[in-house]
Amino acid sequence: MNNFEEFDKYVMTTYKRFPVSFEYGDGIYLYDDNNKKYLDFTAGIAVNALGYGNKNYINALCNQINKINHSSNLYYIKPQGELAKLLSEVSGLDKAFFCNSGAEANEAALKLARKYAHANNKGNKIIAMKNSFHGRTVGSLTLTGQEKYQKMFKPLMGDVEYAEFNNLESVEKLMNNEVCAIIAECIQGEGGIIPIEKEFYLGLRKLCDKYNALLIMDEVQTGIARCGEFFAFQNYAKNYEEAPDVISLAKGLGNGVPIGAIVAKEKVAKAFEPSDHASTFGGNFISTVAGIATIKEILNLNLVQNAKNVGNYLYQKLIELKPLIKDVRGMGLMIGAEIEGNTSDIIQKCLDNGLLIIGAGKNTIRFVPPLIATKEDVDLAIEIFKKALQ
Ligand SMILES: Cc1ncc(COP(=O)(O)O)c(C=O)c1O
Repeated sequence: MNNFEEFDKYVMTTYKRFPVSFEYGDGIYLYDDNNKKYLDFTAGIAVNALGYGNKNYINALCNQINKINHSSNLYYIKPQGELAKLLSEVSGLDKAFFCNSGAEANEAALKLARKYAHANNKGNKIIAMKNSFHGRTVGSLTLTGQEKYQKMFKPLMGDVEYAEFNNLESVEKLMNNEVCAIIAECIQGEGGIIPIEKEFYLGLRKLCDKYNALLIMDEVQTGIARCGEFFAFQNYAKNYEEAPDVISLAKGLGNGVPIGAIVAKEKVAKAFEPSDHASTFGGNFISTVAGIATIKEILNLNLVQNAKNVGNYLYQKLIELKPLIKDVRGMGLMIGAEIEGNTSDIIQKCLDNGLLIIGAGKNTIRFVPPLIATKEDVDLAIEIFKKALQ
């Protein structure tokens, strides 16, 4: 389909789209249908960790699709087991469940928390954070503490209360034996790139331990090497006890092949019994082979360290743009630059000049490039961004 009007005639308008369509990618660059080249600092919204054209990833998928793509979870899917083992090794947690997206991963976390609470004779109240984002399904939308996403879709799920992010007192006020879980992001992404404070994270951990509630960290955007550790929580939790009980994953896990997952501690994971939760596609051959190839390439190419180094460099370069920008926040290759006024003009100008960036929250520009980004890529991105600001 070559024309955007025809596209809009047949596809629902759930997105306000730029009139651009990409044909192919190479490394950190994308090329549109006029062969115009774009430096990609969006990575499909923090998805394409390996960039475009990674040969080992492509070969793994081609080999798999030549053999079998799907069998259902009624049978053992060997790469699913292998991916679960890899996720356990890189997270330090124990067991995985696979689904297809971030929202679904949070739904699974919700159900696991309630099942665990049921098995332990606890209440089923959940505390989520104001200004959070956890997805668009009714359950994950309820966890999303932002009225603008919720208001047209009420009534939502019951028994969720909202605390102030990075304000432990506000969580303490809501905490009691009826609470079965607290959910938060390590960096509020859609909320405007607001990192969790270490004391707040550890405070949440202690509160959960005190009330035998689960700590669920939504690592959908921050996970898979984006924030300078394999998972962002590892910037704060130094051992198994300090780690969350459950993490939810998606985005970077499949490098563009849809896959979501939760990974949980053993004592929690065992609350799920056959038929408690399921997914037809979840953890199929294609998505889990994509997940394995992504993680292996991240480790082979040392992209955790690269995200840290290049991320620090990007952070510094953005700081140097003050007072053109107001504030810089984030970790690794998930950085936000807060600007005065509207972000959409800046994003459009950058697009015109061959740089892809996105907004986050009200007035923050988000930089989430593929994890293969180099300092030279950052220099070029900053040059285009600076010009757009002036
Ligand atoms: C932190 C977080 N959780 C959940 C989601 C929802 O993921 P998905 O769009 O794959 O359902 C997102 C998407 O932006 C996210 O940033």
